Amino acid sequence: MRTSAFSVLALCAAASAAPADSFAKRTKWSMATRSSSSATSCTFNSAASASASASSCSTVVLDNIAVPAGETLDLEDLQDGTKVIFSGETTFGYKEWDGPLIRISGSNIAVSGTSNHTINGGGERWWDGEGSNGGKTKPKFFYAHGLDDSTITGLNVKNTPIQAFSVQSDNIVLSHLNIDNSDGDDKGGHNTDAFDVGESNGVTIRNAVVKNQDDCLAVNSGTNIIFTGGTCSGGHGLSIGSIGGRDDNTVKNVTISHSTVTKSQNGIRIKAKSGETGSVSGVTFTNIQLSGITDYGVVIQQDYDGDDGSPTTGIPITDLTVQRVAGTVEDDATPIYIMCGDGSCSNWTWSGVSVTGGKNDECKNAPSAVSC
Ligand SMILES: *[C@@H]1O[C@H](CO)[C@@H](O)[C@H](O)[C@H]1NC(C)=O
Ligand SMILES: *[C@@H]1O[C@H](CO)[C@@H](O)[C@H](O)[C@H]1NC(C)=O
Ligand SMILES: *[C@@H]1O[C@H](CO)[C@@H](O)[C@H](O)[C@H]1NC(C)=O
Repeated sequence: MRTSAFSVLALCAAASAAPADSFAKRTKWSMATRSSSSATSCTFNSAASASASASSCSTVVLDNIAVPAGETLDLEDLQDGTKVIFSGETTFGYKEWDGPLIRISGSNIAVSGTSNHTINGGGERWWDGEGSNGGKTKPKFFYAHGLDDSTITGLNVKNTPIQAFSVQSDNIVLSHLNIDNSDGDDKGGHNTDAFDVGESNGVTIRNAVVKNQDDCLAVNSGTNIIFTGGTCSGGHGLSIGSIGGRDDNTVKNVTISHSTVTKSQNGIRIKAKSGETGSVSGVTFTNIQLSGITDYGVVIQQDYDGDDGSPTTGIPITDLTVQRVAGTVEDDATPIYIMCGDGSCSNWTWSGVSVTGGKNDECKNAPSAVSC
């Protein structure tokens, strides 16, 4: 069966809150070729029409959309199985606000982009060197919250105002994402985390290429998480945490592997907040190559955000594996820094760790497996 152009238009127009004529003018519709009447391919040229009507479409093409200042390109509660495709350049107006600039939710959703699309956050308009610590209020970039059993593939993201992807979903795969905030190195980009993962079960991040000014990955809470094949530069490294002081303070079963971290403050790290409670168990770092690290090669600490050198025991770090983590740090950096409370780090496996250069290692209450 072929759905006629008329019935597609009628279906989508009926679902729209926008006036029918401006809606029709700004929105091109292509005909469905699949048998179900809900198998409708829609191409949107405005954020308002996309937000109003995307849930009536099985394929959503976001074509050169200029999102107005202070608004979210909001695709929530999409139909099961919807494909969302970014095409051309997606841009955002300037306003000081919290964002997010983009939000997508639903089940079995496949988000991708055409081969030469760009999603340009225009972050340089907000950057002031202060990130989330002050100055201008900066919008978060992309909320993948409640985007379950879904994929985000091959997006080209440039210049996010502050944090890029916030992931709060079950069974989601983010692959081949390219996040280029390198302009922020000179122009005051700060707290531009690439992936912040929390309250999630089953997250895989594969083959990300990240140039930024904060964590390449930060796992604040969650279970069954994989980060592999990543290329991280300019930022703060591959991190678990910070943990503590949130609703969920449990991190369990995370594997970070086959990745490089270059020109960054840290290589790999676990930051457990001083004086807080929670737990970190079953974390593995394996096959990580470091270079040009300026602060710490490997840093595992239970004194984060507290008095340096006074770790607390409320967030035990157990069943940790660090293997084949190798490379170099700069002259002023510390290759290995382990700051554990009395008895709160246990059952660690440590092998093939070779981080050279810099100052002496610094360790307190490190399990005996650690060479320090
Ligand atoms: C790349 O983008 C331009 C401008 O948006 C477009 O005209 C062109 O067809 C695109 N090329 C490919 C290969 O998608
Ligand atoms: C750890 O997480 C991975 C990825 O989701 C999963 O395949 C594996 O079964 C988990 N291991 C345990 C012990 O739960
Ligand atoms: C120690 O850690 C390993 C691997 O992380 C895990 O399989 C094992 O169950 C742990 N042993 C204890 C006694 O907790």
